[in-house]
Amino acid sequence: MPPPIVRPTAYRLTPLLQSKASTTAAAVIAFSYLQGARAMSTAYHRLHGKNVFITGASSGIGWACAERFAQAGSNVIISARRLEQLQQLETKLIADSPTSLVHTGQLDVTCKESVDTFVASIPSKLKPIDILVCNAGLVLGLDKLLDVNPQHMDTMIDTNIKGLVYCIQTLLPQMLQAGGHIVNIGSIAGREPYAKGSIYCATKHAVHAITQSLRCELIDTPVKVTEICPGMVETEFSKVRFHGDELAAKNVYKGIDPLVADDIADLVVFATSRPKHVEIADMVVFPHGQATATLSHRRTA
Ligand SMILES: NC(=O)c1ccc[n+]([C@@H]2O[C@H](COP(=O)([O-])OP(=O)(O)OC[C@H]3O[C@@H](n4cnc5c(N)ncnc54)[C@H](OP(=O)(O)O)[C@@H]3O)[C@@H](O)[C@H]2O)c1
Repeated sequence: MPPPIVRPTAYRLTPLLQSKASTTAAAVIAFSYLQGARAMSTAYHRLHGKNVFITGASSGIGWACAERFAQAGSNVIISARRLEQLQQLETKLIADSPTSLVHTGQLDVTCKESVDTFVASIPSKLKPIDILVCNAGLVLGLDKLLDVNPQHMDTMIDTNIKGLVYCIQTLLPQMLQAGGHIVNIGSIAGREPYAKGSIYCATKHAVHAITQSLRCELIDTPVKVTEICPGMVETEFSKVRFHGDELAAKNVYKGIDPLVADDIADLVVFATSRPKHVEIADMVVFPHGQATATLSHRRTA
């Protein structure tokens, strides 16, 4: 099991061991490495055999979450609209994590009936669902409110808000019985509105409000609720925003080292692998060089 957060310590260990003067420091580091590795493997152990349902797993953050959970020994239910991409992911998961069970299916979260039917079709060996990652989401366009395309507005609202609510409504009843953890992928756009992003920002503000209300409602139940709010992550997100315009999408990350999908998946795995009494409410995460939704330091050379 890879312990990613302790690797830097491991790298430092070898040169330190070569110096006599550093023996004590090396021993301390070796001890902390082992402690870190033990803590990490305990965390991974908590995810072993858990059933994790991920929406929007055909690319980006959802795909990375599926890989991370499978590496931790969880069983994964992967869903999205594009079946071909999901099948590629399924093949990879089976090859890389052969002990994990994988259930794959096409799902458009904007249709409540489809969500119900999909959940009903999950094989019993992958039930009950322990962890729901509400990740499916998108932004369409970068327009002033006056110019917002009504269809784009409907799609963002239907996917980012209603789709998330449908998934929670479908899975929450069984989680109330068996326990569970809901992770909503929000955004810095859900904290800081920006020009030409009104509808997307509104949908992510809604995700923030829904997550907080839900945590209050579930306070006396065995269900935890977490929101993870990324800044810039390089995925297909900007390509979708700009309707397939690769150059426009690339420009979003120009002069900055954006987050990658694995960075967010690491946080999802971290949040869901805490001890029973620990509930991570939310996390806001930026790439270094981004400080707010709109303030970024970009290299010019
Ligand atoms: N990338 C960023 O900078 C960033 C920053 C903050 C928050 N986020 C949030 O992170 C989440 C994941 O985005 P990403 O960055 O990983 O982008 P992405 O690579 O475009 O992934 C989006 C996923 O959502 C799925 N999806 C879209 N509409 C759907 C629908 N109606 N039903 C089911 N699945 C649907 C897509 O799959 P199909 O097209 O196959 O359905 C895809 O798998 C989103 O909620 C996004 O708002 C992203």
